[in-house]
This record gives sequence, C-alpha cells and structure tokens, in this order.
Amino acid sequence: MSRRSQLIPWKVAGRLSEQRTSADDVVRETGWVFNNATGDHLTLADFVATGDDEVPAYLEAFGLRNEGNQQRSMIEIGSGIGRMTAAFTREFGAVTAADLDIGFLERCHETVARFGRAERLHTLEVADGRSLQMPNDSVDLAFSYLTLQHCVAADALNLAVEATRVTKPGGRIALNFRGPSRLDIVLIPLGIAVRALFRLPRIGEWLSQRRVVTRLAWQVSRISPDEAIAALDGRIEAITVWTAAVGRTSHRAISHRRFDGINPNHWWLIATVI
Ligand SMILES: C[S@@+](CC[C@H](N)C(=O)[O-])C[C@H]1O[C@@H](n2cnc3c(N)ncnc32)[C@H](O)[C@@H]1O
Repeated sequence: MSRRSQLIPWKVAGRLSEQRTSADDVVRETGWVFNNATGDHLTLADFVATGDDEVPAYLEAFGLRNEGNQQRSMIEIGSGIGRMTAAFTREFGAVTAADLDIGFLERCHETVARFGRAERLHTLEVADGRSLQMPNDSVDLAFSYLTLQHCVAADALNLAVEATRVTKPGGRIALNFRGPSRLDIVLIPLGIAVRALFRLPRIGEWLSQRRVVTRLAWQVSRISPDEAIAALDGRIEAITVWTAAVGRTSHRAISHRRFDGINPNHWWLIATVI
C-alpha cells in the first residue's frame, strides 16, 4: 500500500474493484469514488451513461468536438474504471486511459469492451502519481476531470506540465481543477487529519471505504488559474479559463468563458500546446 496518504483511498477502492466478479457490484461498491452516486440499483450501464452525457457536453462547450476527432488521439488522466473513457473511445481514434491504480485500469478495459471501442484503448499506469511514462508529442488532446484536485499541488502541477509534454504542438489540453474557496480554512486541515488516520494499520483501510470520511480526505489541493497557468508558462497559448456562472478569473488567461455545467468550486483550463 502506498505510503502517500492521498493515494490510499484510490488504492483501497482499486483493490476492492479487483476482488469483485461482477462489474455491476464494482459500481455499487466503489462507483461513489468516481461520481458520488450510491444505491443498490446502480449498474455499470447507468454509470457509463453519466459519462456518455458529460463527454459530448464538455467537448462541445470547450470547442473540442468535431469529426476530425476520429483521426485524433487523446489521453485521459485519471480515467478510473472508465466512466467517461467508453465515450472517449467512440469520439477519438486512439485513447490512452491513465490512472494510478492498475485495478481500475483493468476494469476500465472491461467497461470499454462493453460500452466503447476496445480496439482504440491503451492504458497507462501513473505509478508515481505525477508523471506520464509516454513519449513527447504523443497525443492531440490531454483531458483530465475530477483528478488533479485529489493530488497534492506539486503533483497536480507536474501532471499538468506532463499533459503539455505528451501533447503534440498545436494539440489541446482540457484540465479540470478545484480552485480556492472560503471553506478551505476548515476543509484542508480536516483532509490532512483524515489522511493521517488512513495511515493507521487496519483502521485506515476501513476508514478509507467510508464515503463521508473519504470525501474529507479528498480535500487535498486547491489551485488557482494563475498558479496553473504560471506553471505552464511558455508551454501553452490561446488560454481560456472556464468557470460556472459565478466563477473565478485569472489575470493570465487570454479569455474567460462561462458554462453552467461546471461545478462552482471547479474551473477548467483549455489551451493550445506550443
Ligand atoms: C474522482 S475519480 C474520477 C475518475 C474519472 N475522471 C471520472 O470522472 O469518472 C479520480 C481518479 O483519479 C485517479 N487519481 C487520483 N490521483 C491520481 C494521480 N496522482 N495520478 C493519476 N491518477 C490519479 C484515481 O485513481 C481515480 O481513478
């Protein structure tokens, strides 16, 4: 088990997902770590349907959806068990699903085999949680959703740099972050305290399967648009920061756009790689 406490809940959920024989059981028991939905009625089909709705919605909102995508390649950083990956394999000619947990990646293969285009899928383990073992200029789009906020800031920013490294010049990045908010003064220390408990033998693993506790442990990093854009200085251009209706802004972005579908605590960085 990883000693880096922010990785523990994913590794525990990944191991649970490996132990289950039915994909529907995996969704019922660990699906909440991906889209926060719970209930005995959940199935893998319902789970993938949420990704089928979100993938075209985000790609269209960000101007990243067109027929040329069938000839393009992409990487999804933090794919989990493939909630969105199945839809990506229908949109793009080649998809690399990257995640720190190989149990999730095995499940991702199954999900895509049932609901997407398995022949278009590759998987990539992000073993250190911060770098992508992939050559420079490999893909046309690097996408990440609900993942960078769960990494410590240095890892999240490193993954953002890696996203620009593996994307071809002229390709795009679409990276989702959680920005700072007033509640952080309470949430961040609580997250640190819970993650310290995760390190305790046995108790830690049990705790990391409890939804309320784990939601606190997820409060790892907050990154503002200015911080992320500064980390990518000289690597990106045509920078747009997307937020919900009432959002945050950045001095460094070329433009700001609003999309109602974005969580008010989140923001997206859409840019072209130089
Ligand atoms: C909340 S889930 C989101 C999964 C997927 N993007 C979705 O929307 O369904 C976060 C995912 O990020 C992965 N993850 C967390 N930290 C990571 C890191 N440092 N590097 C790569 N993957 C990471 C977790 O294993 C998990 O699968």
